[in-house]
Amino acid sequence: MSVAKTLPSWNALTKHAVFPHANHDEVARLNFLTHLNVHLSAEILPGVRTAYEREVRPEFEISNGRQPETRHEIRQSMLQNSFFQMWSALRRNTMEMRHQAARAQVLRQIESLVDKVQALNKGDGNLVLNDAIDIPANVGSVDIHCQPGCYYEEYFENDVTVAASYDVGLFATTAGMLGGLSDGGGQAIGKWLLEQNSDFKPRRILDIGCTVGHNAVPLAQAYPEAEVIAIDVARPSLRYAHARAKALGVNNIQFVQANAEDLSDYSDQSFDLITTSMFLHETSHQAMPKILKNINRLLKPGGLMLHLEQPQYEGMDLYQQFIRDWDSFFNNEPYWGPMHDLDLSAMFTQCGFNGEDMFEIGLVSLVDESIFGKREKGDAGEDYGRAPVWNAYGLWKK
Ligand SMILES: C[S@@+](CC[C@H](N)C(=O)[O-])C[C@H]1O[C@@H](n2cnc3c(N)ncnc32)[C@H](O)[C@@H]1O
Repeated sequence: MSVAKTLPSWNALTKHAVFPHANHDEVARLNFLTHLNVHLSAEILPGVRTAYEREVRPEFEISNGRQPETRHEIRQSMLQNSFFQMWSALRRNTMEMRHQAARAQVLRQIESLVDKVQALNKGDGNLVLNDAIDIPANVGSVDIHCQPGCYYEEYFENDVTVAASYDVGLFATTAGMLGGLSDGGGQAIGKWLLEQNSDFKPRRILDIGCTVGHNAVPLAQAYPEAEVIAIDVARPSLRYAHARAKALGVNNIQFVQANAEDLSDYSDQSFDLITTSMFLHETSHQAMPKILKNINRLLKPGGLMLHLEQPQYEGMDLYQQFIRDWDSFFNNEPYWGPMHDLDLSAMFTQCGFNGEDMFEIGLVSLVDESIFGKREKGDAGEDYGRAPVWNAYGLWKK
């Protein structure tokens, strides 16, 4: 049995001015869910592998006269296994409970939250909302990772419910792996850029699918002289993101409601750096080429495109693919598996880049280790599919 690390309390999160308040019971509930998630990953998940190795795979081999050849064959066989069913049902439940807990916490204070957001957003040209933007099919057709209302639903005028709920609840899934502001991924990108690419000085940066700004804010902090444009289709997320950035003292980001499939408002070669973070796996096969073609048009020669994602499946052990693919089938993430199957380099070529120039780097989420502890690949608490070590897929445009 692995030795569990001491986990931070939800209360360790940084309380910026629009971060929802939590009472004693709310903190306890989120901590319970966090600890249950870690327990499931560290203590129960290894038993799923044991069930596969000792029971399910041997039975498959007897029935089929061969080993499973795809993760889908593994999943089909595992569906009947009671240990897998238990782990899967509990994992799904922690996700649903996370959303319920966060939503209840946000709703009881929604009026004061909206007031705070509005006070920060009022009269500021850096929040640009556009009623004419439709929610694209990949966002509108599914409550992604079981989040009611996804990122965009508005229940009343000036609503920020879904965004504040997302900011509150993320911790229960990541167990602090993303640090005090849930932005350890963006911070890691900023650090990598500044330390490994110190000659690169982007003046205009585009962050696509910014949600509440967990990636855009650290980038804007890394390059305080740069103009950062952060786009999303989700109005509640943009309202909250803008207020959150201001609350954090970051004023060089313009948050714009825009669909990345149509960026005709921006001129050719007008950005030095274009990023996405945990975004590609939420875009469909129809949307992704359109978005990448737009990135290619908008990026200057010498500019960098960088996508932060979980690793692609190619070359990965089939069992690990099957576990990582759980989200596709049980967590309302229908694009997760197809995206992780893609040959990204070929996709980049198809969209006008020279795909052979693609590079891949591992980035470890940057967190305050004195509070959140050091989290590494293979960590006992690692939740496959949402690991603290990501891959960034990048390409310098020539
Ligand atoms: C997983 S979230 C991204 C998280 C965020 N980048 C971060 O670092 O925390 C995906 C976001 O992409 C947005 N999105 C999806 N398709 C989009 C599109 N075509 N144009 C703009 N935003 C889109 C969604 O509304 C959602 O807010």
